[in-house]
Amino acid sequence: MELSIIILAAGQGKRMHSKLPKVLQPLAGMSLLERVIKTAMQLRPQEIFVVYGNGGDHVKESMAHLPVRWVEQQERLGTGHAVSQVLPYINPQHQVMVLFGDVPLISKTTLENLLQKTPVNGLGIITVELDHPSGYGRILRNQNNEITAIIEHKDATPEQLAINEINTGILTTTAKNLQKWLPQIKNQNNQGEYYLTDIIAMAVVDHCAVNNVSAHPVEEVQGVNNHLELANLERYYQISTAKKLLLEGLDLVDPARFDLRGELTFKHDVMIDINVILEGNINLGANVKIGPNSVLRNVTVGDDVEIKANCVIEDAIIETGCIIGPFARIRPQTHLGPNVHIGNFVELKKTSMGEGSKANHLAYVGDAVIGKRVNVGAGVITCNYDGINKYVTIIEDGAFIGSDSQLVAPVTIGAGAYIGAGSTISKDAPAEKLTLSRSSQVTIPSWKPPSKKEK
Ligand code: UD1
Ligand code: CA
Repeated sequence: MELSIIILAAGQGKRMHSKLPKVLQPLAGMSLLERVIKTAMQLRPQEIFVVYGNGGDHVKESMAHLPVRWVEQQERLGTGHAVSQVLPYINPQHQVMVLFGDVPLISKTTLENLLQKTPVNGLGIITVELDHPSGYGRILRNQNNEITAIIEHKDATPEQLAINEINTGILTTTAKNLQKWLPQIKNQNNQGEYYLTDIIAMAVVDHCAVNNVSAHPVEEVQGVNNHLELANLERYYQISTAKKLLLEGLDLVDPARFDLRGELTFKHDVMIDINVILEGNINLGANVKIGPNSVLRNVTVGDDVEIKANCVIEDAIIETGCIIGPFARIRPQTHLGPNVHIGNFVELKKTSMGEGSKANHLAYVGDAVIGKRVNVGAGVITCNYDGINKYVTIIEDGAFIGSDSQLVAPVTIGAGAYIGAGSTISKDAPAEKLTLSRSSQVTIPSWKPPSKKEK
């Protein structure tokens, strides 16, 4: 049977105390809702519907790249009402699965297991046993241990509240069953809501088989209602990711002090020191070392590269054998060729550097095309901006830029040229020649140190 998936995401998320709709809050760099949609996509359903409400436009815009259909729930009258909004658009021959937009870590494996273990034309739910089941709907069973109903926490008797088996909210059944049951849901309960969970008792009345599967670990099915729960899930996600990477051969000095907010590929003998944050797409070559407190976002790093402590690197390609930092800042569109050295307090932006070039101390190099074996001295600055436009600085192979020079772009320094320290270079400097601009040094013979005035 073809599958349609409904993701409920109309909740306001008041307890987040945030202007950002709850389902757009990020977990490990990706919004809660995007995580659920991506997992849903892995099941290859015919269609994915997202029920949205509060803050809907912003939610829709943020998910514009994903193949989902949006259905508005104007009033938030409960999970049963939310699913009813989608029913008219669902193919009546389909199997339907309901997911929650704020349960971000549900796995493909668990959902596949749910689909497999749900009897044909029956109803399947995911349940777990919790030591602290407070707040959740409880699973009611008869003497034969068969599920008979779900009772919401707010409607439960003290005996029912003692039940540890809870409803995760995720369920599957046929569109036909939903067509039959949803219109029968009433809102006569302590919350005045139309509960989707009421369909379990209806299934039992209809002699429709109800089955449950479990989920391990429970974090997979935990929802996010506030920042504490979000932070707990983030930590769970990070530590489990770190453990997985360790077993795949990544040398993380401390798995508890490592954050991956994206996708990482790595070759053998990669060592990552503490408090490193990797964002976006990160590719690390063999024998790469990353020092403590560095942040990398969308970076490709070749073999044998050492990134020392406290570097911030974004949208860059770093080829084999480079040494970066400590305290280097590499900004977008930078490409470092093999064996480039970038030292402390050097900022690079939209710059390419050829093999073996160096900028070892205190420099700003932006919009520059730098050849091979170039030495950029301490304190060198490319003056790439006139307040309105940006201009390119070209430094050809083997040039040596003396300390504290300013290169006023657009300007070209020829191959093998030397620029004397302290120069302001605003015209092209010829290859193989020493060029400098410097006022001549004077000593004043009549000068005396100041002395105290007599009163
Ligand atoms: C729901 C279940 C409860 C289960 C718990 C698991 C019901 C009646 N109860 O309770 O059995 O233990 O989840 O976390 O289903 N939503 C809408 N529109 C609405 C109401 C909710 O889109 O009108 C969405 C929310 O955004 C959220 C999800 O549905 O993603 C669950 O809603 P929520 O109000 O959090 O349900 P719970 O009371 O937690
Ligand atoms: Ca909830």
